[in-house]
Amino acid sequence: VSAPARFPLAVLPTPLVRAERLGRALGGPPVWVKRDDLTGFALAGNKARQLEPLVADALGRGRDTLVTGGGPRSNFCQAAAAAARVAGLGCELVMYGPEPPQPPPNLALARALGARVRFTGDPERDSVDPALDEVAAELRAGGRAPYVVPRGGATALAAAGYAAAAFELSAQLETEGVSPELVLVATGSGGTQAGLVAGAAAGGCRWRVVGASVSRPVEECAGRVLALGPAVDERAVDVRDARGPGYGTASAEGERAARLAAGTEGLLLDPVFTAKALALLPRLIEEGTGGPVVFWHTGGVPDALWEMSTKGGGGA
Ligand SMILES: Cc1ncc(COP(=O)(O)O)c(C=O)c1O
Repeated sequence: VSAPARFPLAVLPTPLVRAERLGRALGGPPVWVKRDDLTGFALAGNKARQLEPLVADALGRGRDTLVTGGGPRSNFCQAAAAAARVAGLGCELVMYGPEPPQPPPNLALARALGARVRFTGDPERDSVDPALDEVAAELRAGGRAPYVVPRGGATALAAAGYAAAAFELSAQLETEGVSPELVLVATGSGGTQAGLVAGAAAGGCRWRVVGASVSRPVEECAGRVLALGPAVDERAVDVRDARGPGYGTASAEGERAARLAAGTEGLLLDPVFTAKALALLPRLIEEGTGGPVVFWHTGGVPDALWEMSTKGGGGA
């Protein structure tokens, strides 16, 4: 995996911490947490790492505006808005559905960071995709130079940001003298898992990456991970269904996992990604996972707060 140019956003390395109380409560192997909720840039979590190569590429190509999209609760959208600011770029966002009457934190943050936001009016998530090209064409016609990024930042280039993160973890594990059996991570558009799998393979790491799919059926999600990861071996792509009632809706298991993480370690998990990922851990332990486990905390803090304030504490 060759390292692409990176526009520095994240404060790295993020901490790797032992979660003793959480591990004891789960009654399984030792649990470690990779704190990518602390990437140190705009509450962007994992999205800070993915934006570094994307922004470097946009600047390298002489583009002046990031164009991307997602839902009003999208972590990637607010992260892109912040990254654009730091890089001196404009930011145009397209969100699915109608404009919500009360803006969730990620939408409010994106606007506060100067992004222009439009809504497709269509609740289907993929209604964003053609609109990105339309916005780009409009910008080009006005003499601007757009850089279009698909929802979630799902490109092979962004995934490379996570291949580097696999090396970072590997060095930390060596320092701690820990050899984990698996690394558990929330998977949405697939780039994070793809990068981790590619980086782990390139670095000869013995740990397995397990992706908790929160938005797509397992086969579809595995296909995306395979397509996004440079030279990823199919056998290294392990995706489990963690959708619960569906993308964007909290699950009972996720709520339990979020309460446990908060109650044992003071960790804040969001209802859409990280809570559902941690909820897989008891199942993996039941399946016989005996070695240490690393839970890769990918962030989602703004949405965790939103869930708490709108549902009275369910999300964390
Ligand atoms: C908090 C959080 N965790 C995990 C993910 C999944 O990352 P990816 O889309 O690269 O699969 C996202 C993506 O939006 C996220 O916001």
